[in-house]
Amino acid sequence: MLFMVNNFLKTNEFTRSELEELIETAEGFKHGEISKKFLEGKSIALVFFNPSLRTRASMQVGIYELGGNAVILEPGGTSWTLEHRENAVMDSDKTEHLKEFVGVLERYVSAIGVRTFANLQDWDLERTDPVLAAFAKYASKPVINLESAMHHPCQAMADMMTIREKLGSSKKKVLLTWAFHPKPLPMAVPNSFALAAAQFGHDLRIAHPKGFELDEDLMSEIEDQTKENGGSLEIVNDVDEAFENVEVVYAKSWGSKNFYGEAEKDLQFRAQFRKDWIVDEAKMARSKDAIFMHCLPVRRNVIVTDGVIDSANSVVLDEAENRLHVQKAIMAKIIK
Ligand code: CP
Repeated sequence: MLFMVNNFLKTNEFTRSELEELIETAEGFKHGEISKKFLEGKSIALVFFNPSLRTRASMQVGIYELGGNAVILEPGGTSWTLEHRENAVMDSDKTEHLKEFVGVLERYVSAIGVRTFANLQDWDLERTDPVLAAFAKYASKPVINLESAMHHPCQAMADMMTIREKLGSSKKKVLLTWAFHPKPLPMAVPNSFALAAAQFGHDLRIAHPKGFELDEDLMSEIEDQTKENGGSLEIVNDVDEAFENVEVVYAKSWGSKNFYGEAEKDLQFRAQFRKDWIVDEAKMARSKDAIFMHCLPVRRNVIVTDGVIDSANSVVLDEAENRLHVQKAIMAKIIK
């Protein structure tokens, strides 16, 4: 059945049963039980403002496997630089407005996928996901979020599918842990992972040093979702305690919202966490034989040791493969 919601921007615009249906469809694609060419004769635009391996390759292959054609555009690279702000006076470096960009594309394609990262410059602005919101405002065809400033729902759905595939569909004790990275990164992945884990009713523990809190409104939504779906939420600032008894370890680094626009200050602040905030064998030993997850790309021996990512408990490649299957399911459900 097609979904009522036209866009795929974040998971909490969908019910838990719709998200579960997506995973069942993705499993159907993965195991060869579904082979229908849902996109026969259709073209899908994939707009990349930022680099990608997994998202770009899995979307392009997924569209091909569904019988469609991918049109890949890179604003400022292989297509014109884009202005997204309403009423902008375009006398600087932006050549084309998103209104025309989307209007023209829609004459050719059936949906638009967009990747647009946070610049980590202005927290109050970027937490509103302004570029993705502008795409959704101007488009009448479905918009798929391929990672925005605040959300990466395709990744989160592949993550939920992977947990279910490895550990079954009952709720699990899941740790989302901040890890040291030599530069500040956007929050889309941890935001979407935590939100989806809450929607799937897992017992979620989020670990980070003080100063790396996630968005307050999002945390309140995550808390509501855990209550509604039978899970729980715990925040810890002690990295060793964080690993106690968990069945899933999900590592990701992110920048401090206190230092948006001040990257140097973030770098100085985070340096103190380099030694302790790495996922290593000793920490994994405190878990309940947990699987190790990361969205990739990952910096080896900075975020996670070779010993952990190369261990039998590491599921990072299955997680990446599941991007393909889950995105096929998303396209099949929302593209009319
Ligand atoms: N995980 C993920 O989105 O990977 P890419 O940035 O390579 O697309």
